Amino acid sequence: MKTELAQSFRRLEYRPPVYTFGQVELDIALDPARTIVKSKIEVLPGNSFEPGAPMVLVGQELEFVSLRINGEAHRRFELTPETLTIHSLPKEGAEKFTLEIISICVPEKNTSLMGLYVSNGNFFTQCEAEGFRKITYFLDRPDVMARYRVTLQAPEAQYPVLLSNGNLLKEEKLPNGWHSATWEDPFPKPSYLFALVAGKLECIEETITTSSGAKKLLQIWVEPHDLQKTRHAMDSLIASIHWDEKRFGLELDLERFMIVAVGDFNMGAMENKGLNIFNTKFVLAQPETATDADFANIESVVAHEYFHNWTGNRVTCQDWFQLSLKEGLTVFRDQEFSADQMGSESGRAVKRIEDVRLLRQLQFPEDAGPMAHPIRPDEYQEINNFYTVTVYEKGSEVVRMYQTLLGRDGFRKGMDLYFQRHDGQAVTCDDFLAAMADANGKDLSQFKNWYSQAGTPRVKVDGQYDAANKQYRLTLTQSCAPTPGQAEKKPFHIRLKVCLITAGNDQVEQLLELTESTQTWTFDHIEDRPVLSINRNFSAPVNIDFEQSEEDLLTLLSSDDDPFNRWEAGQKLAMQMILNNRLPDSALINAYREILLDPNLDPAFKELALTLPAESYLYEQCKSVDPQKIFAARISFRKELAKQLQLEWAALYQQNQTPGPFKSDAINSGKRALKNLALSMLLDADPKIWAPMARNQFQIADNMTDRYAALAALVMHGAKGAAECLEDFYKRFADDALVIDKWFALQSSRPPVEGLESTLNEVKRLREHPAFKLNNPNRARSVIHVFCANNPASFHQADGSGYAFWAESVLALDPINPQVAARLARALDRWRLFAEPYQSKMKAALEQVAACQTLSPDVKEVVSKALG
Ligand code: PHE
Ligand code: ZN
Repeated sequence: MKTELAQSFRRLEYRPPVYTFGQVELDIALDPARTIVKSKIEVLPGNSFEPGAPMVLVGQELEFVSLRINGEAHRRFELTPETLTIHSLPKEGAEKFTLEIISICVPEKNTSLMGLYVSNGNFFTQCEAEGFRKITYFLDRPDVMARYRVTLQAPEAQYPVLLSNGNLLKEEKLPNGWHSATWEDPFPKPSYLFALVAGKLECIEETITTSSGAKKLLQIWVEPHDLQKTRHAMDSLIASIHWDEKRFGLELDLERFMIVAVGDFNMGAMENKGLNIFNTKFVLAQPETATDADFANIESVVAHEYFHNWTGNRVTCQDWFQLSLKEGLTVFRDQEFSADQMGSESGRAVKRIEDVRLLRQLQFPEDAGPMAHPIRPDEYQEINNFYTVTVYEKGSEVVRMYQTLLGRDGFRKGMDLYFQRHDGQAVTCDDFLAAMADANGKDLSQFKNWYSQAGTPRVKVDGQYDAANKQYRLTLTQSCAPTPGQAEKKPFHIRLKVCLITAGNDQVEQLLELTESTQTWTFDHIEDRPVLSINRNFSAPVNIDFEQSEEDLLTLLSSDDDPFNRWEAGQKLAMQMILNNRLPDSALINAYREILLDPNLDPAFKELALTLPAESYLYEQCKSVDPQKIFAARISFRKELAKQLQLEWAALYQQNQTPGPFKSDAINSGKRALKNLALSMLLDADPKIWAPMARNQFQIADNMTDRYAALAALVMHGAKGAAECLEDFYKRFADDALVIDKWFALQSSRPPVEGLESTLNEVKRLREHPAFKLNNPNRARSVIHVFCANNPASFHQADGSGYAFWAESVLALDPINPQVAARLARALDRWRLFAEPYQSKMKAALEQVAACQTLSPDVKEVVSKALG
């Protein structure tokens, strides 16, 4: 019986390493069934060293073969399933010595996709956070930074390409058809940045000259049949390199930079030094097979991983509690890069709205649920569970606040000081804050609460206009609900951009600093009652609690010069009406119409303004969620919008065609987004009339955005011809795994449609489809996660059938891949928010999973915190 309590790791228990590593030599003979890893490591006393201290290495699923110290066999050691403890070190460990270890691992049996594994016959590694210990016994922690020299050996016919970090030193032919390659990485790095790749791959390459005049070789490695899909990733990489030079003065530091695509991958991509490994989803794109969203995602993920070379690799994390140090900062950098790529101020605003929408749909619920944690957590059981939207997206908002506070130049000064102080080191979030503070001579001590406290702050707004004295008084009160382990919160330092909009339209933006629980500001010489525009451009990641009249919201929607708040006013109006089960009234319809017809607004903005708040966001506004009621109210609201504006939708559909050769830039993708929203609205208005137009678009489309959008409109509405088009789509793209993922995901995300069978039954059939593979994360997610996490109205059924499917799926995935299972497990996080009978049924499903005796630590942490 396994009843031991789960082990927790605590931030405050950090100790520097007892031993540390200098040079590391790895000799790896690759064999799917039995890979032999020989390591030769220079060991030195670390910062916690005491004479005589044993050295504790970690290893997982390894077969131990031998251990030598300074060339001699060493017998004073102990092995447990996860550790190798070495005693009686020479000179009590006080001086440098050499450790040699031989061990064996089995890549072909590795379905967790952590450590060394096989995908489609090729070898890949994934070491962040703690995968290196599945390759060899090691000090597998980010504050042990070593220099690596790696020799890979493999049969040449099967594995012609052998890659690792850094520069290629030599290649050799070996007996029996084997060959070898030796790579050296000149920069010290933690083990989580190690990578190797071996197999039948081909690359496109480019040589570029960077700011110092150095020539650099860029390569993108893929399976041969995918070679023509790499251009966009290469262009994105080149743009990222130039942008980082210009904006932050940061240059590529290696002679060669490689990206490799792999079809089996747990996450998006990984920033291994000089050898980034990517999920194929974030590399491969061609207009015929990738949507505009795919193109944009590839651009931002390529940039993100490239930017890690400085923020993550040159300066890394002291321990995993500091994860947001590299992730929050790097997300902020990739968001800024993508915003700049939009090519205009209005484009930047579109990107900002998209980023905030994501934050509020995913991170706000996390921050209000059982897994809520500060961007720098204090405790975890399984670090893999902390690659969260909080650490990434909220972390990025926190970094953005420095820039709002210090200005772009001040922020740049802080970054420069950060690198000056910490290049080559493993540091903490406090070090980053100190660099920002010192470079700008600012006291940022209260800002630290953003790192230590979980939960989304709420700012209550009370605005009073005093007509007699021509004064406007604004009182702001902040609070933050309790989160696990944090009952009381200290006030945050919240900077809010505000503007008072009056009839005279004399808008002057101001920055208010809310540092106490309550503060009042008085504005003088306000001639008329103003409309308050607050938290412009989402300057702080908070919830604004403001009972603004519909009239004022309509004013903001039609005339706020801050595009973010213009969008926000529309979202709020729609949200309030949907939650009150109302249809859009004529005032709102007219405001929407004006936006749609405004020639000065970007199509991309119009599309965002007319897209209703997601169900998951609506849930968070309720005390007790009835998912079917919210779904019904939202659908009716949308139908009304579709019908009332039918003529406009039809006109927009015609006006926003993008003839000519396909371009994935902001303007063209914005037009397609608006056109395809129009198409979907038209099907809402009258599927009989408009379905033929969707079928036609599906057939004649020359790009995936349009083809997929037409198919989605047909499927989502259960329109005539949907089944035939689905079949046609499958046949056309049967050989393209990423497109087939879309085919699965689309069917799993269909909401309930009257007269059609339940999506759950459809999903169960898809799971039996010959192309379904539970072991492949992209495929598993496209069916199971999409259904459980992105299709609320189909998932939340009163009979609990969705939850039973969830439990069964978590338990099926867990023994294969705990990380993928644990992500799915999170789909029930918010169970306490739901009304009966949903709540009890969700709880029962959680209990069913929790009762399993063989759960991974990953899933165990998620379900026990959910129930706790
Ligand atoms: N560090 C990667 C990134 O954000 C994410 C990742 C984490 C990938 C863990 C794999 C494993 O860029
Ligand atoms: Zn990252």
